[in-house]
Amino acid sequence: MFIWQLVAFLAGRGAAKSFSGLETSYRFAQLTDVHIEPFYNPERGHLKGGVCRVPEAFNKSSCVPFKVEPEAATYPLGRLNCDPPFALLRSVLEHMAHVAETEKPDFVMFTGDIPSHQLSCQFHQARTIEMVIEMMADKLKKVAPTWFPAMGNNDYFPNYNVSMEPNSPWQQFVASIYAREGVLSGEQLKTFAAGGYYSASPRPGLKVIVLNTVVWSQKVLDWNAAPKKHVHHHQDVSEANLYHGPDAPLEGSDTSGWVWDEDVASKKIFVDCDARPADPYGQLAWARQELLRARSSGQRVIVAGHVPPGNKVGSNNFCQQHLDDFKHLTQDFADIIEVQLYGDHSNDEFRMVWEETPRPRAVSSILVSAGVTPRKHCNPSWRMFEVSKEHQVSDFSQYFLRLADTDIQLNMDSRWEKLHRLGRDEEVSWKFWQKQYSFRDQYGVGLDPEELQELWMALQRDPGLLRTYVSHMFSQTVGNYDYFDYICDMRYLSEEKNDACSARGALLESPPPLELRRAIGPTSSDAEVAETYGSMRLAVLGASLTLNLLLGSVVLLMVRRRRREEAASYVALP
Ligand SMILES: *[C@@H]1O[C@H](CO)[C@@H](O)[C@H](O)[C@H]1NC(C)=O
Ligand SMILES: *[C@@H]1O[C@H](CO)[C@@H](O)[C@H](O)[C@H]1NC(C)=O
Repeated sequence: MFIWQLVAFLAGRGAAKSFSGLETSYRFAQLTDVHIEPFYNPERGHLKGGVCRVPEAFNKSSCVPFKVEPEAATYPLGRLNCDPPFALLRSVLEHMAHVAETEKPDFVMFTGDIPSHQLSCQFHQARTIEMVIEMMADKLKKVAPTWFPAMGNNDYFPNYNVSMEPNSPWQQFVASIYAREGVLSGEQLKTFAAGGYYSASPRPGLKVIVLNTVVWSQKVLDWNAAPKKHVHHHQDVSEANLYHGPDAPLEGSDTSGWVWDEDVASKKIFVDCDARPADPYGQLAWARQELLRARSSGQRVIVAGHVPPGNKVGSNNFCQQHLDDFKHLTQDFADIIEVQLYGDHSNDEFRMVWEETPRPRAVSSILVSAGVTPRKHCNPSWRMFEVSKEHQVSDFSQYFLRLADTDIQLNMDSRWEKLHRLGRDEEVSWKFWQKQYSFRDQYGVGLDPEELQELWMALQRDPGLLRTYVSHMFSQTVGNYDYFDYICDMRYLSEEKNDACSARGALLESPPPLELRRAIGPTSSDAEVAETYGSMRLAVLGASLTLNLLLGSVVLLMVRRRRREEAASYVALP
């Protein structure tokens, strides 16, 4: 019996491979959510806000001069549940450069969030952003010829303090840093300085559209309504425009008409969704024009942003009207949008934009990368995408670093320890990175919406597969047991439907009897979806299924026995 199992397994793999049969024509990488902590100190772990920070930098009534803490001796590359030090950024950028030696990406997408959480004053935020962009601009030169940054919610200060008006001083400031480092220029710089969005064409036939999705978030801060607390600025900080010491703003960044804001919001008040402009900065109208132009010139499109549409641990990311508009835009251009890339969640996830009529089907793939910060108990990660001809994004490989390993190993080798102290440990610390998985190898499907839909169906029927997904979701650290919600998140982007799905879903204590399992599938209201799933699976696993048929009852018995051993099973279908 073991032999048959092996044969079936190999046939299944063979089928997946030959189905893919896609030659890589180029690659691109995704880096996200670096959240670098300049005041990193692992001994001051978890005091508040999921950061490890020296106490004086926590003080929200005073803004101490900016300085980067010396390299930490314990947890040198970062600590779970904390934002990481610069050492981790050096390490990931160096690893990307090493991978690029054999698998050179054409470009890197950076989907936002530069500084650590809850820095105590605007000055610390601005300086951290400057330093990180400088380091990335320098080190990414070894990785790819270009990179495309997006605005994250932490790239404003305070977090989510994004202006609804174009060309805000903060937006201009961040734009000026990207300009100075040669990352953005011309028309891209103009729209980025206005609202943090732009488009690019890194290859013939390909368009990249970078959106500022932060401005659609429910959590946009209402600065004028927020009760404010005055921050006592150190004199050097107050005179930052004149100051030319080591922590002064670097030359070339736009601080004209800029006064360091000495207030922080002591309590957050959000801009009511109903009180917002329909299309802040005219970004959606702009994106529609870009998509129309892409269609008429036969381009494929990659859409990227920071905050993804849909649910984040129980609450909806976008205001409903912006979600609706975004969905319509995506549906209207599903024929040319290849894939959408996001960050923000610090979890590795996927979800889909669906079309409900004439029958429910997924029309756009939304891929969320966990990124570099281990703050949400995820090991640090980054992704390399493979694209076959006609700009078909066919797979990604995720690389990760087991943080627990680095603490012991860096400290066991005195040469490494020394390099670390000198801030040059990337020579060795890149070696801690390893491949975590390839999506196609792991799940047997690619990244097209139909394929994700197929996987979504499979995840509901196979608890083992869902566990694999959750293990990747947390980059091989632990997640929580509430797996069912993830199934709803993949399917329903709006609050109401997502809640209804969660309420309907059940984590079944024991596997349902076989008759019930049959009833759950094709007789449900999503019957047609299930049918599509059935026929696609046939196509994909053709060889494997044929073999299964031949094996007949023997294999069936085996599968049944294996299923019975599974502790739980999940259903999203009514
Ligand atoms: C924070 O800073 C303020 C202003 O400088 C100071 O009065 C206060 O004692 C500080 N708090 C702590 C806990 O150090
Ligand atoms: C928050 O945003 C508002 C509007 O853009 C701006 O006036 C204010 O200075 C910002 N606050 C800080 C501390 O940057």
